[in-house]
Amino acid sequence: MEYKRLGKTDEKIAAIGLGTWRMGGSMSPDHSQDLEIVEAIRYAVELGMNHIDTAEMYGAGHSEELVGRAIKVFPRDQVFIATKVWYTNLRYDDVLQACERSLKRLGVKYVDLYMIHWPNERIPVSETMKAMEKLYKDGKIRYIGVSNFSTSLVEEAQSSLSTTDIVANQVEYGLHNRHIERDLLPYCEKNGITITAYSPLGQGRLAMELRARTKRTEALQELANRYIKTPVQIALNWVIWRENVITIPKAIKKEHLEENAGASGWRLTPEDYKRLSDSWK
Ligand SMILES: NC(=O)c1ccc[n+]([C@@H]2O[C@H](COP(=O)([O-])OP(=O)(O)OC[C@H]3O[C@@H](n4cnc5c(N)ncnc54)[C@H](OP(=O)(O)O)[C@@H]3O)[C@@H](O)[C@H]2O)c1
Repeated sequence: MEYKRLGKTDEKIAAIGLGTWRMGGSMSPDHSQDLEIVEAIRYAVELGMNHIDTAEMYGAGHSEELVGRAIKVFPRDQVFIATKVWYTNLRYDDVLQACERSLKRLGVKYVDLYMIHWPNERIPVSETMKAMEKLYKDGKIRYIGVSNFSTSLVEEAQSSLSTTDIVANQVEYGLHNRHIERDLLPYCEKNGITITAYSPLGQGRLAMELRARTKRTEALQELANRYIKTPVQIALNWVIWRENVITIPKAIKKEHLEENAGASGWRLTPEDYKRLSDSWK
């Protein structure tokens, strides 16, 4: 696995981690796949994909419980746990309480990265950031991040912090969705903020399109043949091509986890990167 610098810190974070949306349920808990999910998370860590992304909202907390169950067999510092506070809990006291609940479900004393899941225009970012900074100073969270934040909101969040920086913004990015390229991506690149790309496989759409063999999947297939990789690996390698971008595909199937882990540690040439970018514009 390839590791990248997190924000402007000295922390090294897996270029390809593991997403857990729909692991343990969507809006309410689902226990039907608990065993497979715990196994999948452990296998991801063994493959070096030790950045595990979850949220208090996923499965109404059950995803965090499963992450906690999975990671307890590893030394704490072998896993980088990222979780998120839901947008209804962004008042100062609510953030502190939400974090305590997440720590309890995860069974840990601290989380590595704590993010605001979505902005909430009714609650000033500065109020939420004060709570994030308190958690940071108290050692409950190691780094502060945001998710689904525009450039101006990232700036506002950053200016509300006095002792530390925003290290990451988690946003949708992949061949299917390129909207951040216009503004947010260059801004984060320039300001040393990591982009964590979510839904890098278009929530399964990429695999469907590959089966349907569209014009633009031909470019992926051609590169796959040339690099002796799979089309999915080419697509994920494209996502993490820029220095400040990492990603967190969600996968339960063992073969998917292995395939995703194999998408880093090598690099498309600048010419191939550009050609692929153009063919998926
Ligand atoms: N911050 C936010 O608002 C936000 C929003 C959405 C997502 N996220 C985070 O980002 C993570 C990833 O995004 P996502 O879950 O939306 O979608 P995704 O990672 O783009 O796609 C997941 C789907 O792709 C399949 N898959 C995984 N690896 C594959 C492979 N090698 N070949 C073929 N199919 C493969 C998975 O199947 P199997 O599970 O069957 O293996 C699953 O059905 C989430 O889990 C979550 O942690 C954050």
